[in-house]
Amino acid sequence: MSNYKEIYKHAQTNPNEFWDTAAKAIDWFKPYKKLLDDSQAPFYSWFAGGELNTCYNALDRHVLNGQGSRTALIYDSAVTKNSRKYTYQELLNEVAHFADGMIKKGISKGDRVIIYMPMIPQTAIAMLACARIGAIHSVVFGGFAAKELAARLVDSSPKLIITASCGIEITKVIAYKPLVDKAIEIANVGDIPVVVYMRPECSANLQAERDSTWSDFVKGTNAADCVALESDHPLYILYTSGTTGQPKGVVRTNGGHAVAMHWSLKNIYAMQPEDVFWAASDVGWVVGHSYIVYAPLILGCTTVLYEGKPVGTPDAGAFWRVIDEHQVNCLFTAPTAFRAIRREDPIADELQKYDTSCLRSLFLAGERCDPNTLEWAQDTLKVPVIDHWWQTETGWPIAANPLGIEELSVKPGSPSLAMPGYQVDILDDQGNEVEVNNIGNIVIKLPLPPGTLKTLWGDDSRYIKAYLQTFPNYYLTGDAGYKDEEDYLWIMSRIDDVINVAGHRLSTGQMEESLAKHPAVAECAVIGVKDEIKGELPLGLVVLNKHTSISDQQLQQELIQLVRKDIGPVAAFKQAINVKRLPKTRSGKILRKTIKAIAQGEDYEIPATIDDPEILREIENALMKN
Ligand code: COA
Ligand code: AMP
Repeated sequence: MSNYKEIYKHAQTNPNEFWDTAAKAIDWFKPYKKLLDDSQAPFYSWFAGGELNTCYNALDRHVLNGQGSRTALIYDSAVTKNSRKYTYQELLNEVAHFADGMIKKGISKGDRVIIYMPMIPQTAIAMLACARIGAIHSVVFGGFAAKELAARLVDSSPKLIITASCGIEITKVIAYKPLVDKAIEIANVGDIPVVVYMRPECSANLQAERDSTWSDFVKGTNAADCVALESDHPLYILYTSGTTGQPKGVVRTNGGHAVAMHWSLKNIYAMQPEDVFWAASDVGWVVGHSYIVYAPLILGCTTVLYEGKPVGTPDAGAFWRVIDEHQVNCLFTAPTAFRAIRREDPIADELQKYDTSCLRSLFLAGERCDPNTLEWAQDTLKVPVIDHWWQTETGWPIAANPLGIEELSVKPGSPSLAMPGYQVDILDDQGNEVEVNNIGNIVIKLPLPPGTLKTLWGDDSRYIKAYLQTFPNYYLTGDAGYKDEEDYLWIMSRIDDVINVAGHRLSTGQMEESLAKHPAVAECAVIGVKDEIKGELPLGLVVLNKHTSISDQQLQQELIQLVRKDIGPVAAFKQAINVKRLPKTRSGKILRKTIKAIAQGEDYEIPATIDDPEILREIENALMKN
């Protein structure tokens, strides 16, 4: 079978045969007894009864197959102007010794380990070391504030935290250890030992007896062996934003994940062992988990771990330099990165300095890719540019143009077709399938394919409520959109309060919780408004308490600081506007969609349920003044 249609149909009509074939690419310590155990539905177990180790599949097996001297990971730091290559053998040594350090510290299978790290190789080493001994890692993105980290400490109750002395944001050195100490204090769950990787740019204070440096932690260790883990044993928890302030801990299990990683990198991204794959994202996001660390190593590729930005480190040629220097075959990033490059260098002058002929394709995800950016990338790089759609929950693409199978025709603005294993449908609010070209709720028929989320950490009922309850037998993606007459998907917006800022998924509800803490704020609403570079930016509308004398400027600064302190700089919250009242329905629901339309200068209909249409004019005036 060599075309998309046949392969998709095969996965749909005979999933057992399809995934059984895919699973042969993985080394199992014990073969699975049942391909899909649905006896506990809606909690499904792929490859039930099988045992494997993800780290073994990512490292050991390649070394055992004589590939130890090949490059596994290239660390390229544009911010420190350093780079370092790790062979598979070197990476394995580092991982196995760090794993032994964890065993000596009393960490074992099932224990949770929080990793709060910048983009350095030690982050991948820590993740793989957890996978090696069956500890469940939870990586927290460095741009999150102490309070966000604390929420994850409370929810996952880790036995160990791994961090670095600092991260580097272009030229700013951001000390991580004080944030970790603060988070431990806020979480109030007792003292958790911290391992700190000391970077030359910044030192960190250690708490005697509790904390250790990375180098002390691995001193005197041996190489730890891989532990055989049940297919269904969790590999990691990755927190993501939902409707409420409480992040959702997506649980990914070993067996399905390993199979999906291998299958997707080969068939969607068209990678082969020995190719060089670069996901220019952050290990703190799902893209980093799947396509910086796990998939490239499981397939036997070289992965690039880049510490830097698309612009400013030092210029808009940064991506082209990395492609040329490390002979990258496939680049994966978010459209926002290309918009940032285009703004600085509209005619791609910088590209002339480099030879990027090694590049075969560019994949974009994390937010809708606007046709302008897609076309600019195509014209500039002269390779297929693929918009593809997925989420933290799914761990790999739901819809894409599967270059490893067949290059489909591109429709700019659409992430193309559903991938094998995903039956994507569009339903109206009553659960009926809508007609072609009509917008509705995008849902996926259960069971979800291997590699997708099993549940939410410690909260099966929230998993059911958030994703499965709305439409029986379907997983609710949270996105709205439509299918055209050729089954191409068009992802138009979220149906919840999630916004996408520079490819980062954030909850406006959570920002509202922060703003509401300000003593001058009586009521507030946060919406996402279109931004040329970041896709969306949060905008706060605040109604002040009577008799408040604070100046607009001071209030704005204090609100910005509140969000930075609670959520972190990554929220990019920079604007709050005072309004007299917020538009609401008669039942008191804030009309966020209408506010958004006004803020974006779009036509809007006055909702029939609004309590007082005059408020909309007030909002228009307030927005115009700013
Ligand atoms: N640790 C600490 N702080 C961080 C951080 C980290 N790992 N990552 C970002 N931040 C901070 C930044 O320093 C910035 O802080 P500031 O407000 O004090 O300046 C803030 O968070 C916002 O950062 P960022 O979103 O990176 O915006 P930017 O304006 O610095 O850069 C882009 C804009 C488009 C260049 C940048 O967002 C980018 O490269 N995006 C790629 C998107 C991506 O990788 N998405 C992942 C999904 S594929
Ligand atoms: P995250 O979980 O952070 O990866 O964010 C997932 C969300 O980002 C999706 O539910 C979509 O809303 C959005 N998204 C990701 N990729 C795309 C895409 N290619 N097109 C449109 N929206 C996307």
